[in-house]
Amino acid sequence: MKRSVVLNMLLSSQGGFVSGEDISRSLNISRTAVWKYINELKEMGYVIESHSRTGYKLIACPDVLWPDEISLGLDTSLIGREIVHFLSIGSTNDKAKELANNGCREGLIVVAEEQTGGRGRLGRRWVSPQYRGIWMSVVLRPDIQPIEAQKLTLLSALAVSNAIEDCIELKVGIKWPNDLVISGKKICGILTEMSAEVDKVNYVIIGIGINANISVEDIPDELKDKATSLAIELGYNVDRKNLFRHISRNIDELYTYFINGNQWHDLMVEYREKCINVGRRAVISQGDVSWEGMVTDIDDDGALIVLDGHGEKKRIISGDVSIRGVEGYV
Ligand code: BTN
Repeated sequence: MKRSVVLNMLLSSQGGFVSGEDISRSLNISRTAVWKYINELKEMGYVIESHSRTGYKLIACPDVLWPDEISLGLDTSLIGREIVHFLSIGSTNDKAKELANNGCREGLIVVAEEQTGGRGRLGRRWVSPQYRGIWMSVVLRPDIQPIEAQKLTLLSALAVSNAIEDCIELKVGIKWPNDLVISGKKICGILTEMSAEVDKVNYVIIGIGINANISVEDIPDELKDKATSLAIELGYNVDRKNLFRHISRNIDELYTYFINGNQWHDLMVEYREKCINVGRRAVISQGDVSWEGMVTDIDDDGALIVLDGHGEKKRIISGDVSIRGVEGYV
């Protein structure tokens, strides 16, 4: 898109001026069209100085995940080749489903600055205040059996935890199946939803919610002992644009590895290393039924292996099960 190229030229000049003539020549557009794109960028929150003689200078960028900017340098093969952005939306997963039903391409990302009806697992709500997090959904169209789709949940948890670790100096653990945890508290949740027939997946939506720059006040009281944000843990705000690019790249890498028929076992080895449940006691809940056991392993299909009170091995697949630590969230 031409506006994105104009922005890229301004960003690349690193605080210097770019002449209107250079832009119009590079893009093969009129000076009036250049002026139009500059005005659009200003309306999007970019602070740009204009001088009739020297041209345009970028002074500041807004903290907004505009596709024009977050797609710059995004060298992925599938994920995020198309990005749809909203300042506010009900739920990015719902929008992604709508677009997938209408035949959108694989890898499309819906990203929003705010969700007014953000959804979590097990019918819970997901608090998604404006400009504070990364609320995004990825459309996948894997050629796999529906039973295999839960692997994508684990793959996403691994990809997003690696992405966060690429950006900050903190260790990120995975609470099975796909909560990401720092210092014993949740910083990210993933909601995987699928449309399938008996032996064919139509699409899978990977909905990712990262508490990036959320403050303590944003977290509802009943969640304060369970949830945190990257900013709370680090003491400073993170660059959401950089984090978004790392997430897209990491999902692209692991997903293409997976669909090209590579060793799934190798991903599970890495997943197990990051999973904080193995070797701990946990309370397993499904509907009204809860029981306690010792988590001993995760098998290659991603099922949790738990030793119950009678010493019997139980195999738990994610579905609508929730688990928590004996003494709290982890
Ligand atoms: C959970 O841990 O319960 C899963 C939370 C998933 C939240 C994300 S935010 C983006 C996407 N849109 C939604 O409505 N939910 C997911």
